[in-house]
Amino acid sequence: MTTAVSRRIQPAHPPTPGKPDLRLVPAEPRERAQPFLKWVGGKSKLLGQLSELMPHGPLRYAEPFVGGGAVFFWLWSQRRLDTALLCDLSPDVIAACEAVRNRPGELLQALDLHERAYLRCDEEGRAAYFYAVRERHPADHPVDDVARAARMLFLNRTCFNGLWRENSRGRFNSPHGRYPDPKIVQEDKVRAASEALKDAEILRADFRALPELVAQRGLDFVYLDPPYHPVSVTSSFNAYSGGTFSARSQAELADTCRQLDAMNVRFLLSNSDCPLIRDLYRGFRIDTVQAPRSVNSRGSGRGDVGEVAISNRRPGLAW
Ligand SMILES: C[S@@+](CC[C@H](N)C(=O)[O-])C[C@H]1O[C@@H](n2cnc3c(N)ncnc32)[C@H](O)[C@@H]1O
Repeated sequence: MTTAVSRRIQPAHPPTPGKPDLRLVPAEPRERAQPFLKWVGGKSKLLGQLSELMPHGPLRYAEPFVGGGAVFFWLWSQRRLDTALLCDLSPDVIAACEAVRNRPGELLQALDLHERAYLRCDEEGRAAYFYAVRERHPADHPVDDVARAARMLFLNRTCFNGLWRENSRGRFNSPHGRYPDPKIVQEDKVRAASEALKDAEILRADFRALPELVAQRGLDFVYLDPPYHPVSVTSSFNAYSGGTFSARSQAELADTCRQLDAMNVRFLLSNSDCPLIRDLYRGFRIDTVQAPRSVNSRGSGRGDVGEVAISNRRPGLAW
């Protein structure tokens, strides 16, 4: 789908030396890119609310917990990016981003093989195929980025509720989903995402490396979507990270945000609305957003959930 837009972009900062002044260039129509992974807690449904809280582009952008990358793809489609750095600690996420960007044709072929093999089975055979792929972990059976990405996308599209969830050993452990006709290949989505990712640097990195990475590249806005702090003991919001993102990690992340603030780098962070998070970010601006939530550990408790969007927006920092 193409959207015809012609508008003046008003950057918060002067244009990059040596690059055209984007304030004077009308935006060209651009294909819309979307996440190629289904992700619980993905930000697609919150883009309207989050965009109100983001600085105007063009942004020198970093996203340290990229996951499905909904926010990156949206900003790219809106032409609000000057440059982008996308990071994640998961080797699966990084292999998927690199395969989509660098080898989309081979990835689509690998997905096509999965789709044919899976769809021609009966229900029992599909479950057996799913579990065989799930148990063959790349850490035990090393494969290249394309096969690793194809495994992740296949599992993501055929597992229960599209929930990417890992155990404490970093092994994907969602059960089989039993969709009658899952779309495993999704060529348009992969091709559009590939174009968008060509404009990004992709790096496997821990969030603790962020201030240095941002300083080296002169980046000026960071959007952070970490595994959420659980709002209750049974909450599974951060189950996809194997539950390894502890309260201590949340505190270290808040320190990282304070470092960004001291560097005058603008940031916006999403998290669950709970006392620990409000306490860790005391002194920063805290907005509340309503997130539609359709998955939790017991399948109950559906409905809107309060989340916070925390930023260092303040007088004196151009926004
Ligand atoms: C909430 S998901 C991101 C969702 C994504 N922004 C979207 O909209 O689809 C969180 C991500 O954080 C990554 N992650 C977990 N611990 C991390 C760490 N210490 N450093 C960097 N990334 C980490 C996980 O691999 C996961 O991809």
